[in-house]
Amino acid sequence: MSGPTAPSAPKPEILAAFEAAKGFMPVDEGLALYAAAAEAAALGLPLVEVGTYCGRSTILLADAAREAGVMAVTVDHHRGSEEQQPGWDYHDPDVVDPEVGRMDTLPTFRRTLHAAGLEDQVIAVVGRSPQVAAVWQTPVGLVFIDGGHTDEHASADYEGWAPHVAPGGLLVIHDVFPDPVDEWTGQAPYRIYRRALESGAFTEISAHRSLRVLRRSGPDT
Ligand SMILES: C[S@@+](CC[C@H](N)C(=O)[O-])C[C@H]1O[C@@H](n2cnc3c(N)ncnc32)[C@H](O)[C@@H]1O
Repeated sequence: MSGPTAPSAPKPEILAAFEAAKGFMPVDEGLALYAAAAEAAALGLPLVEVGTYCGRSTILLADAAREAGVMAVTVDHHRGSEEQQPGWDYHDPDVVDPEVGRMDTLPTFRRTLHAAGLEDQVIAVVGRSPQVAAVWQTPVGLVFIDGGHTDEHASADYEGWAPHVAPGGLLVIHDVFPDPVDEWTGQAPYRIYRRALESGAFTEISAHRSLRVLRRSGPDT
């Protein structure tokens, strides 16, 4: 790595945009995500997020990407995860498309990015994570997995995206709860975190609440 050191914390206006955005990530985890993104962006490769929702965490990846002159890519079908559907704790009726009768977080996401002044730093991919991963060809500096929380979805996110993390790049997983007492939609993120470590391809470098940051330290096995 060369050149000026990347800032490890977001500027106040970026943090304010993050706090104003709809979403679930608390500020302290956001700061840990930003620090990881800033470090990974120095590799000069894109940063990929799986699970855009309304763009709260995307703001942080996009700002870290902008500082390093790389792009952030965020993937979501924008129809919501299981726990965000009507009748579940994480449902928000404001993000239902009344004409279609299904969730659509894309308009809110676009407003979030516009308000943060980050539209030009983000490539938004509307699609299912495994299908996007299957056509993805470029090594990435960071993959942030924050998509569906069932075993089916979390496993597919891990299997589809972890192979794209470049040597020295970071795999960041959200909602890792080792203790079943803390689980709210299951422990699938914890299970893919364990898989990543047990594969021998990734080494944990930091943990902040439910956010785990792993570095690629070897080839996929
Ligand atoms: C927990 S939210 C993401 C929160 C966001 N990262 C934030 O911090 O504000 C999970 C998102 O993953 C998306 N999602 C779930 N399964 C998916 C899949 N298989 N492919 C694409 N997106 C998916 C949902 O639509 C939802 O918007």
